[in-house]
Amino acid sequence: MAIPTRDALLQSLTAVIDPELRENIVELGMVRSIEIADDGAVAITVSLTTAGCPIRNHFQTAVVKAAQEAGATKVSVAFDVLSDNEKGALQKKLGRSGNLPSGALAQVQNVVCVGSGKGGVGKSTLTSNLAAALAADGKKVGILDADVWGYSIPRMFGLGGDRPPVSPERKILPLEAHGVKIMSIGFFVQEDSAVVWRGPMLHKALTQFLEDVDWGELDFLLVDLPPGTGDVSMTLAQLLPDAKFLLVTTPQPTAQKVARRAAEMAHKVQLEIAGVVENMSVFTTPSGERFPIFGEGGGQELADELDVPLLGKVPLTMPLREQADAGAPLVGTDPDDPAAQAIRQAARGLIALMPVELPVLSAAPTPAIEVIPAAAPSGMSLPMAG
Ligand SMILES: Nc1ncnc2c1ncn2[C@@H]1O[C@H](COP(=O)(O)OP(=O)(O)O)[C@@H](O)[C@H]1O
Ligand SMILES: [Mg+2]
Repeated sequence: MAIPTRDALLQSLTAVIDPELRENIVELGMVRSIEIADDGAVAITVSLTTAGCPIRNHFQTAVVKAAQEAGATKVSVAFDVLSDNEKGALQKKLGRSGNLPSGALAQVQNVVCVGSGKGGVGKSTLTSNLAAALAADGKKVGILDADVWGYSIPRMFGLGGDRPPVSPERKILPLEAHGVKIMSIGFFVQEDSAVVWRGPMLHKALTQFLEDVDWGELDFLLVDLPPGTGDVSMTLAQLLPDAKFLLVTTPQPTAQKVARRAAEMAHKVQLEIAGVVENMSVFTTPSGERFPIFGEGGGQELADELDVPLLGKVPLTMPLREQADAGAPLVGTDPDDPAAQAIRQAARGLIALMPVELPVLSAAPTPAIEVIPAAAPSGMSLPMAG
């Protein structure tokens, strides 16, 4: 066989596909150099996006095969790493952004885990609406759906079927809906299929959601916890030592008892409890008749007991449930609904509780102060910010 030409080798190398970026390495500009010796031996250098590229072996094998097919008698493959400029060019070419430094959550200001002792109290509904409310307030917001068994965030944001793309940095990019960046196990499994992960697998999945996802700059990352105080919460507490805990409860005494267990768990893993939100509070008919279906006062009692603020009492309203099912947070579609108002208030309370970021480069100062007193629901004790 004749000595292969450079063109023939390049042509053959177009068969080597980067499985994550879903494009061939010639097109991606990852073939750094090709040297052809007189005896037909070929040396190829491939540039990777990161030094510890997990699919290096895949490239090694595929490049050897491609070069042999082009007529190389012997193939050696070497690797180097794309320069920052080259990576930038690659990003542009792919039309994607994403340049998270290795400290995965380095650009995330506040992590808030939304939890409760049991399911069905409205954690996911509140998480999605709080996130949308924060986004409407100009905050950069993400949701990590950590309810790996009963994920519901994708549905609440109308996201079905889409798979998150991967950046050239090999980071998974969250999907975005209603101004919120979202990552959920639901994006990776077939709808309604049971996720049976436990132990190490679960730990790995959650770690990946935090470390391999390019969250970018966020003011708030809300974490929708599964019910209870099990593996997931413990794992997350380990991974997110600076996270705050937002406790959701319904108004009746038994719910409080359950919520208290979640609070104890939070204490045990040393997550600070930011506050309580009471959900499914009194239902009011259009004519003004009040129905305290799940009782009254539980949220305040729990907040007092834990010595944390009650950030809001979110009434039962039909639109809140309907919008969750329809895939658009109520705070955006019907901001005047009493539940939407209460959630917006809770969101402002959350902002007020968080450490104030000093505006370094922005021209206008952040109006952090304006929203504090007006936002406080009656009976709420706000610690002074800063
Ligand atoms: N304040 C509320 N008013 C009416 N329906 C609500 C309210 N809060 C939650 N729901 C509904 O209750 C159900 C359970 O809520 P969900 O957020 O999924 O709970 P969790 O995440 O705690 O399991 C959902 O159908 C949701 O739409
Ligand atoms: Mg849920």
